[in-house]
Amino acid sequence: MRMKTKDLLTLNELNKNDLLGIINNAIKLKKDLKKGVSKPLLKNKTLAMIFQKPSTRTRVSFETGMFQLGGHALNLSADEIQLKRGETIEDTAKTLSRYVDIIMARVYSHEEVEILAKNTTIPVINGLSDSFHPCQILADLMTIKEKKKRLAGLKLAWIGDGNNVCNSMIYGCAKTSIDMSIATPKGYEPSKQVVNESKKHIDLQLLNDPELAVKDADIVVTDTFVSIHHQSTDRTNDFLPYFQVNSKLMKKAVPDAIFMHCLPAKRGQEVTAEVIDGSQSVVWDEAENRLHAQKALMVALLRV
Ligand code: CP
Ligand code: NVA
Repeated sequence: MRMKTKDLLTLNELNKNDLLGIINNAIKLKKDLKKGVSKPLLKNKTLAMIFQKPSTRTRVSFETGMFQLGGHALNLSADEIQLKRGETIEDTAKTLSRYVDIIMARVYSHEEVEILAKNTTIPVINGLSDSFHPCQILADLMTIKEKKKRLAGLKLAWIGDGNNVCNSMIYGCAKTSIDMSIATPKGYEPSKQVVNESKKHIDLQLLNDPELAVKDADIVVTDTFVSIHHQSTDRTNDFLPYFQVNSKLMKKAVPDAIFMHCLPAKRGQEVTAEVIDGSQSVVWDEAENRLHAQKALMVALLRV
């Protein structure tokens, strides 16, 4: 599979065929792995992982994925490399380009991952910035495809904060023809630019009423009210109790609606334990699919 883009920073870099190709290959890699088949497609390739923020899923799924593909992953906490002492992102990018084959970076400011990408000769993957989380949406679309057997024509309701994950979700839905209703408190809407670009492709509604948003939804999604970059602010009161996904809200969606959350979750805040641990929740498949989707992504970016 040959893709035009060198990097994956927002999800908007992928055209529809590239995106569907990655999802289909991820589903295939998952089936192969379950049968005990794991081809060393990235033999002798090295992935550098830069983390400015904590991570469980991203760190473990990328490292394990690289191992399963016969490659190697280096975990570079931003505090333990010279970035911490003021070496520029540009110089770090140029240096890493001489050693490794691909970089995944989790950063605060989205601009930092853009600078990294601009100054490397190798692919750069955004492992979450304050504005986007494209890898999560690859796994989410894969999960939706597995559960619903299709993508186009579905309706997804996003409830809560119009955050980084929501921005990439809008791009993902726009490319796969999933309609979206987004219910946020006033002032917590997703990026205007992302919404305006995507509105041309799907029915995309920005609402302030969660019950209206979940009406006829096949997929109900939420995320933490307090993202890592908002940790010092108290914003929970702007969301509770109205924007919590609970059983009453889930009942307004279609009867076989699935519940998704990128994790980590705070039970009793954005979602009740009854919903996230209940029969409609697919969060563990969603978490697992980070592994398969990112393997397919790295294979595509490294053009192997
Ligand atoms: N969903 C997600 O990116 O999880 P981590 O923060 O644990 O990587
Ligand atoms: N929106 C969350 C996602 C964590 C995976 C955050 O940025 O912290």
